[in-house]
Amino acid sequence: MSSEDVDDERKSVRWFRFERHAPEYRRNFVSITREMHRECPIAWSQTYGGHWVAAGNREVFELARSPLMSNDRDVHGERRGYGGISIPTPPVHPKAPSIRGGFLEMDPPEQKAYRQALNPYLSPAAIARWVPFIDEVTRACLDERIEQGRLDFVDDLANIVPAVFTLALMGIPLRKWSLYCEPAHAFIYTPPDSPDMKRVRRAAMQMGADLFTTMLEIRETPRPGLIDALNNLRIDGQPAPDLDLVGALNLLIGGGFDTTTALTAHTLEWLSEHPQERANLSRDRDILLDSATEEFLRYFTPAPGDGRTISADCTIAGVDFEEGERLWLSWAMANRDPASFTDPDTVDLGRRGNRHFSFGLGLHRCIGSNVARIVFKRMLVAVLDRLPDFRCDPAGAVHYDTIGVINGMKHLPAAFTPGPRLGAGLDETLDKLQALTDEQRLAEPITRPAD
Ligand code: HEM
Repeated sequence: MSSEDVDDERKSVRWFRFERHAPEYRRNFVSITREMHRECPIAWSQTYGGHWVAAGNREVFELARSPLMSNDRDVHGERRGYGGISIPTPPVHPKAPSIRGGFLEMDPPEQKAYRQALNPYLSPAAIARWVPFIDEVTRACLDERIEQGRLDFVDDLANIVPAVFTLALMGIPLRKWSLYCEPAHAFIYTPPDSPDMKRVRRAAMQMGADLFTTMLEIRETPRPGLIDALNNLRIDGQPAPDLDLVGALNLLIGGGFDTTTALTAHTLEWLSEHPQERANLSRDRDILLDSATEEFLRYFTPAPGDGRTISADCTIAGVDFEEGERLWLSWAMANRDPASFTDPDTVDLGRRGNRHFSFGLGLHRCIGSNVARIVFKRMLVAVLDRLPDFRCDPAGAVHYDTIGVINGMKHLPAAFTPGPRLGAGLDETLDKLQALTDEQRLAEPITRPAD
């Protein structure tokens, strides 16, 4: 990774070899980020066929909100051939159907129709009604381990609660959480050339098949939830194509699972390393919990960035862009810009005016941010209350090798003084909650397409 001045006829810009999928990008994130802020808040990198990289806070802000940035992924070559939000664009498998990444890989007005259909289910008020459900799943996860004095925060808590809750929102049976959980995480952290990839792909296909069957089942016998809302949305009076709906369902799983897990695991690891800050947060949670949540989101930025395609020649933040060029918006680097954050590489639990970009910006800003914040806070408070002296085992903590897609963790074992169980185990709890959520669903209106 290095910066270099290159004589370029077209642009006088700084070039930077930006390789965010390399393990060294994770290891040297702070120094690379500092160098880019100092030398080239917008740089051109020749990696992945050549693309722009925006690292400065002001630059990311301007670019992300510009109407000249496209998220479109034109999998069938029907529009302008744009590559969507992943850089490099994932190859199309000759034997698999080409699915774009839901409405995250669409531009308005199409994307807007999806958001309008889902928003009522994901508003702060709608999510607040689920707090008792989230608390009950969290309680059951902790009860499974509390008498032993040991658990793995990733496997036993932070993987499970976001997964179960996302399935509940969608209308998928809760007991299926493990069918969805494993591929959703393993697909992110398993390198494409790993011998384990075959198994992960198989698990992902099983998950995809279940998702598709569930979608058809809910179309046949409607039950309220995100899947029903998607089944009933209309674009120019027509239902959305099934493959786009499957893309949207995959997006909800991808968005809902690994990101909140990553945030929770990193936070618990940090709190274990900073016992005094943990005691302060626990004692003063009425004052600190909200600001600490935003600070952990800023500092760990679970989804570190997203790609765009420039849709018209333009000059933004002083740089000339050409139509069709690719751009990486680094939320993670923008979140560490000293021009916007005092002591950006320090966690300040009481930080004020914390305008981080961890949920993105503009039209595609995270639609699940209310879910993420509430699920994270409920898990965190439960751990502070029930395992107050937990200590993570640094030797057993496993971070993702790379942070190109998600800044996540595979394992985070911890020990604590054993405590008493408060209720039933996970399976029994999920069965009970399933019956209750079905009742709750019946009390909710079923979405119908707008006239
Ligand atoms: C800590 C947790 C989360 C983080 C850090 C996060 C981050 C993000 C970011 C950065 C974007 C914008 C992507 C872009 O502009 O290219 C985004 C979009 C999105 N997120 Fe999240 N997310 C989180 C949780 C969730 C949850 C819980 C859900 C679902 C319940 C979700 C669903 C989505 C969806 C559907 C989009 C696409 C929105 C659109 O294209 O209009 N996310 N998320």
